[in-house]
Amino acid sequence: MLMDNRTSAVLIAVFGILAISSLCVAGYALFQLNEMQDSSDIGTDVFDSDAYYKRVQDYAAQIREKTDVVPEVAIVLGSGLGSFVEGMDVHTTIPYSSLEGFPVSTAPGHQGNFVLGTMAGKEIIVMQGRVHYYEGYPSTEVVLPLRVMHELGAKTLILTNAVGTINTDYEPGTFMVVEDHICLAPSPLIGPNIDQLGERFIPMNGAYDSLLREKLKGIAVEHGITLNKGRFIQTVGPQFETPAEIEAYRILGCDTVGMSSAIEAIAAHHCSMRVCDINCITNYAPGIGGAIPSSEEVQEMSKKMAKDLIVLLDDLIPMI
Ligand code: HPA
Repeated sequence: MLMDNRTSAVLIAVFGILAISSLCVAGYALFQLNEMQDSSDIGTDVFDSDAYYKRVQDYAAQIREKTDVVPEVAIVLGSGLGSFVEGMDVHTTIPYSSLEGFPVSTAPGHQGNFVLGTMAGKEIIVMQGRVHYYEGYPSTEVVLPLRVMHELGAKTLILTNAVGTINTDYEPGTFMVVEDHICLAPSPLIGPNIDQLGERFIPMNGAYDSLLREKLKGIAVEHGITLNKGRFIQTVGPQFETPAEIEAYRILGCDTVGMSSAIEAIAAHHCSMRVCDINCITNYAPGIGGAIPSSEEVQEMSKKMAKDLIVLLDDLIPMI
């Protein structure tokens, strides 16, 4: 059926408005990214990559003095997920604060220990709590602990983090395995390249290991645990996002949002670690169905989810 002139004019106007809105959103995202990278306090004039890499080696040596565990797998536990270590045969616990000059976690629900031991017959190292960019640490400090775990021998990194869901098909209390990310925090690779770790310009395609994702999916199905998959966006925080920002991220195709983990995935991929990121969906992102998130809600839900997370990891670890 042919449209009359009025209908065509209305349709053209609607499509025009949609196209302009999409351009504005994309422009806004790029602007925000640039702002953050410009305001990064890591400049090549202040970042001494040789001294930094020596710190990585020194911390690894201090940990080796305290334990015979040579971890194959490194796990980072997000907010409220620290109880995971109860399922481990723990050999050694090393508080970050016992390592001089080591970045120490100030965020709620982050205990701040390296825990070394075995799980499902594999030697593993667990970070019971992480540090965040929003705590005032530059990205290079945020990823220092994982570089230490790599130095100790870990070839695989499993990240876990509390997130809000933007995708209304994904419910709080379920998980999402990350397929790809958008990172709004500054890169941890800024500054002179640390050649001992990896190359200067690395492609980020396939940064998240597809085989680990498939294995995890099989495990989740077997145990009746809901595991979604999708695109994650790391914001800077510490404030939760505005509903307008969440709407922008939704238009950009993001399923979940959080304040950590993408920076770590970049650094781990740089040093050729296999990476798997399991999002624990603790809440609807701000504005989704009118949601107003709170730290209490995030803590409470992640504690409830720790049991299922242990089931997933318990089965995944022997397959690595
Ligand atoms: N936004 C950002 N970070 C988060 C959220 C959220 O909704 N939930 C848990 N961490």
